[in-house]
Amino acid sequence: MASEIEILGSRFGLFLSNKQIMDRIKLLAMRIREDYLEKFPLFLVVLKGAYPFAKDLIQAAGIPCSVSFIQLSSYEGFMSGESVQIRIPLTDSIEGREVIVVEDILESGKTLAEALPALQKQKPASLKVCTLLRKPHLLRFQVEIAYNGFDIPDAFVVGYGLDYREQGRELADIYKLTTSGST
Ligand code: IMP
Ligand code: MG
Repeated sequence: MASEIEILGSRFGLFLSNKQIMDRIKLLAMRIREDYLEKFPLFLVVLKGAYPFAKDLIQAAGIPCSVSFIQLSSYEGFMSGESVQIRIPLTDSIEGREVIVVEDILESGKTLAEALPALQKQKPASLKVCTLLRKPHLLRFQVEIAYNGFDIPDAFVVGYGLDYREQGRELADIYKLTTSGST
């Protein structure tokens, strides 16, 4: 794996290797497996960034479940935006289901702070959040996280599904911004 990469003129350094990510996911998956073994949970994956995480997490948990997707977006470039848009709405009913929302990263918490009450209105039996990454110092909205992979510093990260302007999602490892380009 490269120790440094460049995307659109900005430089990023290796931050979490795929091995470190997978080791942590196995721990999260073991806890989810214990908590949901007989419950046929519905993993609700927040597109686009959470897709590799969700795939690895759900396979590692290895329990009967169903999977559904929504797409929310509030992020532009390096910055969390002002309003949360629902780009792909819920297509499956979550009523009466044990729902685990699978998210890539929490920064301000705004995306989930807006989305969770809307999901709660659909009357799931339970609604929990599993996120791979969290930036604790940038959290501005109260969001309860049941499963968290890593607390990370206040830096922009890319890779393993996370993008910088729609680039970098294909990287197996996670990289952290070191030198920002012109924009
Ligand atoms: P929040 O609403 O401020 O919590 O931002 C959450 C969303 O912003 C995440 O679902 C990501 O899509 C995006 N995001 C936040 N931080 C990063 C980052 O460091 N890299 C890439 N995307 C990020
Ligand atoms: Mg996201």
